[in-house]
Amino acid sequence: MRFGGRGRAGACHLLPWAALLLLCAAATTAERKRREPKWWRIAKIEDPSNLISNHIKSNYLGDHDLDPAIRLILRRKQRRLLRDNPGALVAVAKGARAAVHECQHQFRNRRWNCSTTVFTRRKTLFGKIVTKACREVAFLFALTSAAVTHTVTRACTEGTIDSCNCDYRAKGPKGLDWEWGGCSDNIDFGSKFSRLFVDAGMKGRDPRFSIDLHNNEVGRLHVRDNMRKECKCHGMSGSCTVKTCWWRLPYFRRVGDVLKDRFDGASRVLIRSQGNTRTPNARRPNMRRKNKRRKRKSYRLFRPYNPDHKPPSKKDLVYLEESPDFCVRNRKLGIIGTRGRECNRTSIGLDGCDLMCCGREHHTQVVEVEERCSCTFQWCCVVKCKTCKYMRTVHTCS
Ligand SMILES: *[C@@H]1O[C@H](CO)[C@@H](O)[C@H](O)[C@H]1NC(C)=O
Ligand SMILES: *[C@@H]1O[C@H](CO)[C@@H](O)[C@H](O)[C@H]1NC(C)=O
Repeated sequence: MRFGGRGRAGACHLLPWAALLLLCAAATTAERKRREPKWWRIAKIEDPSNLISNHIKSNYLGDHDLDPAIRLILRRKQRRLLRDNPGALVAVAKGARAAVHECQHQFRNRRWNCSTTVFTRRKTLFGKIVTKACREVAFLFALTSAAVTHTVTRACTEGTIDSCNCDYRAKGPKGLDWEWGGCSDNIDFGSKFSRLFVDAGMKGRDPRFSIDLHNNEVGRLHVRDNMRKECKCHGMSGSCTVKTCWWRLPYFRRVGDVLKDRFDGASRVLIRSQGNTRTPNARRPNMRRKNKRRKRKSYRLFRPYNPDHKPPSKKDLVYLEESPDFCVRNRKLGIIGTRGRECNRTSIGLDGCDLMCCGREHHTQVVEVEERCSCTFQWCCVVKCKTCKYMRTVHTCS
């Protein structure tokens, strides 16, 4: 049984020692380590498409229609957002999964490889590492926030969220031989939704909130920053007498690459003491203008840990503490260590055996691998492949 979380009203009848225990638990909650945002677990819910599709049909999502597993992990504000924007739950679930997939791609060659926990055993997605305000965790916040921005924006264009469309407003000056037209991906809606949904509940005195909120915003910013212009010619037989252009989302891989670059250059910061440690958006949401102005400058709250470094900009990931040692197993932080990880004997990078195995030995094995090969396209419409077997030398850390 956990203390904290939901309050239990009927605690009075408990034995005195239990009450004492509750008191102690309450006393430590102030310094309790930040946990991972619960909504991240949507990525682990079995087959969300199944449980959601009925609701799309009915076009209305009441709280009682939500799967209990989902209801449990969402805050009231998040549930209200999903109710008000039918179809958005699917997009959020897709976003959470995309974030996991992209993180594992970006970190495949690193000691920490973004592995997720086993759902039945642990109820978090990435595990206890998230209690640390380190570089890796900064990346996770930015990536999950970017992913929701991306999938919600895409869903608007696809017409699967009732409350949004693609964006027909032309943006920016037109060119010499083209003009704005057609249906742009609605990044304004996607960003706004992500800000409301992903940032929900991140307020209070904990300085971690200002770090997490900043990194969330960095994620959204880099989706917007990488929008690309797509154009189409009109006119007789493609003569291109008229050319119209619209804004298209970047591929999510691109967003992952950019955020990985920011991970490499992330800033370790201290939070300026301001007497008032209120986080940038701790104000009531109805004070929108003030709120916005404070938020935009949130990065001004941070100063570099190393005074010789540049202060972070609004596009930089920020973190508070150095990463833990990912070499060896650490139960307290849910780190599995690099034993058994594959390494590359000729690489001098992080995936090289020296660095990956942290100076320990590595095993070498020759294994047989199967691969699809000599694929041919057969009319119509199948691709036929052979299965090729070959021997591969695999090095793994001991
Ligand atoms: C991460 O590494 C562990 C071994 O340390 C391995 O079992 C797991 O499959 C890896 N995960 C990914 C996503 O590569
Ligand atoms: C190992 O590293 C070398 C040098 O970086 C690279 O050329 C090679 O493709 C890598 N091998 C594998 C299996 O990744």
